[in-house]
Amino acid sequence: MADRAPIGVGVIGCGSVSRKYIPHLLRLNVPRPRVDIRLLCDVDPDRKAEVAARYAIDRFSTDPEAVFADPAIDLVLVLTSMPEHGHLARAALEAGKHVLVEKPMAMTVEEAAHLVELAGRSPGFLLPAPHVVLSPTYQAMWRRLHRGDVGTVRTARGFYGWAGPDWGQWFYKPGGGPMFDLGVYNVTTLTGLLGPAKRIVALSGVAIPERVVDGEMTKVETDDNAQLLLDFGDARYAVVTTGFTIQKYRVPGIELYGSDGTIQMIGDDWAPKGYELWQNKAGCWQIFEDTSGWPWTDGIRHLVECVETGTPPHITPEHAFHVLEIMTKSMESGRTGRALDIESTFTLPRFEGADLLGTGAERDHAPGSAE
Ligand SMILES: NC(=O)c1ccc[n+]([C@@H]2O[C@H](COP(=O)([O-])OP(=O)(O)OC[C@H]3O[C@@H](n4cnc5c(N)ncnc54)[C@H](O)[C@@H]3O)[C@@H](O)[C@H]2O)c1
Repeated sequence: MADRAPIGVGVIGCGSVSRKYIPHLLRLNVPRPRVDIRLLCDVDPDRKAEVAARYAIDRFSTDPEAVFADPAIDLVLVLTSMPEHGHLARAALEAGKHVLVEKPMAMTVEEAAHLVELAGRSPGFLLPAPHVVLSPTYQAMWRRLHRGDVGTVRTARGFYGWAGPDWGQWFYKPGGGPMFDLGVYNVTTLTGLLGPAKRIVALSGVAIPERVVDGEMTKVETDDNAQLLLDFGDARYAVVTTGFTIQKYRVPGIELYGSDGTIQMIGDDWAPKGYELWQNKAGCWQIFEDTSGWPWTDGIRHLVECVETGTPPHITPEHAFHVLEIMTKSMESGRTGRALDIESTFTLPRFEGADLLGTGAERDHAPGSAE
């Protein structure tokens, strides 16, 4: 691998999220060059001066076609507003590139199904965000569950919300909204840990009809508040709470209640900080901290590694497709009031091995005892 030429990279979309991915790409070049950022692209020409000042990169285009047409570009990041993801990821795959696409990979299940099919026959890997399954916390929790450390999980919860962005009008138009932007993390984590969901029902609607975005009063045209129920079969249920309706919270991002114990993630699943474990047989809470500082942009490190080694990514388009079917049906269920079957399924790579995030610190379960 040492004598491999750096992977040529093109970045499409140079807004807020690119300010996390581009520095991550640059960090991959220490201690040896692994990526070469060949071209930055944004339809907004004003981004050119911004990225030149920020990264000293002046190779810029307002036309995504320039990225797809460049034979020196092996890997494309699609970091645009959500409605653009599907067609840009598709064009990049058709051009033979490896693709990291921010979430969700497409707006509709039809568009996503085409991407999954295309990824199956194209030379490039397709890695859709979010990258939660790569985090040490997620993988340690996965191992706990699959070792049977809390028994059979029958009740679970995911939570992620905030007051909502005051930039990007598209967040509040069809194709935006908190389920696609935030709930996507919870749905990915819960289905990754518990397996494919079989049925969903949701309450989903517009709670705040107007708000100020980019300095302008904006009409909210997509659901901004949702409670989603997931049925995993055999009366095993999970709930996902998400919305641009939440100011602050102090609850775990993920809670899993098993027949012999409980696991709660510490922090959010997009930036987990470990987990707390209750086992009836131990009779106390144990805390397993994740001090790795795992970044939510980690998918780019993983994809670069996969391209270098020719190994398929741990994140699969089939899982992202399943998550998209759940999210789109959540909005449909909110409109119709009906429970809806989930037709897609997926298998995930197994995270065998011993890493459970250290040995854990025992804590008496009396409230406030040993924080
Ligand atoms: N902002 C965050 O903290 C965050 C975190 C994780 C994931 N995301 C996801 O990342 C994506 C981007 O979010 P953001 O906050 O960076 O949005 P943003 O609005 O700040 O940036 C998006 C950029 O994409 C450009 N763009 C739009 N269509 C384009 C096209 N066809 N070709 C080239 N450029 C195009 C826009 O001009 C804009 O500069 C979204 O899917 C979002 O859900 C955002």
